[in-house]
Amino acid sequence: MKLDVVFTPQGLLPADVAGRTVFVIDILRATTAMCAALANGAKAVIPVASSEEAVRLAQTIGSADLLLAGEQNCVRVPGFHLGNSPLEMTDEMVRGRTIIMTTTNGTKAMLATQGAGAVYAAAAANLSLAGAAARSALEQHHDMLIVCAGRDGSFALDDAYAAGRLAVAALGGRKPRKGLNDAALAALDLVRRYGDAWQRPLSYSRGGRELTRLGFRADVEDAARMDAYPVLPHLHDRRITAAPVEPASATAAG
Ligand code: MLT
Repeated sequence: MKLDVVFTPQGLLPADVAGRTVFVIDILRATTAMCAALANGAKAVIPVASSEEAVRLAQTIGSADLLLAGEQNCVRVPGFHLGNSPLEMTDEMVRGRTIIMTTTNGTKAMLATQGAGAVYAAAAANLSLAGAAARSALEQHHDMLIVCAGRDGSFALDDAYAAGRLAVAALGGRKPRKGLNDAALAALDLVRRYGDAWQRPLSYSRGGRELTRLGFRADVEDAARMDAYPVLPHLHDRRITAAPVEPASATAAG
């Protein structure tokens, strides 16, 4: 089996994801916020490509249980209930609700994986669960792809380091038969460089610095909390819901 990493979803083709178990990472902040929302009782998160599409979909569904969430330039879309902060996804706010979410990079990366065998969202917030599901996928001989959302089409240190942490957890000391691509090797090197300290690569990254400058330092710290929101978001039929906790069945659910 194979374990590949891509540092941005740009240029991903259906053939790149077909039949694979895919993990999408946008640790600052979309996949962390998805974990927080589902861990705090949201029914589902529906990723969409733009704020206009979010509003249109909400009108089409027309349910009182809906919340609109998302950011433009890191700041909450005007008129939306929520931005993209994991700290906003409180139990009081999200329990029992369906969240239509649009973000600059994270939700688009989720949408770029259509045709995959199974799609999950990963972050530090759910690393142990995501790692167990990834290990189980490799053990069942599923090829695996980690898609970093990146930042505006470019490499993002925060996502790449998280991809390395997920690859370490997935491999559990083994080497996949068909090997790792160069991006996976580079992501593993970042783990050797930064060790276990999530805070350093997250704070040093352009995304982390930008969020800090805009007053979202607490979000960067929250995103660095390992296993803070232990759920495994699973994209199926355009909706993201919490996969069953048992890793083997989570993988099979794909
Ligand atoms: C994104 O999807 O680009 C990010 O999550 C942006 C942000 O954190 O505001």
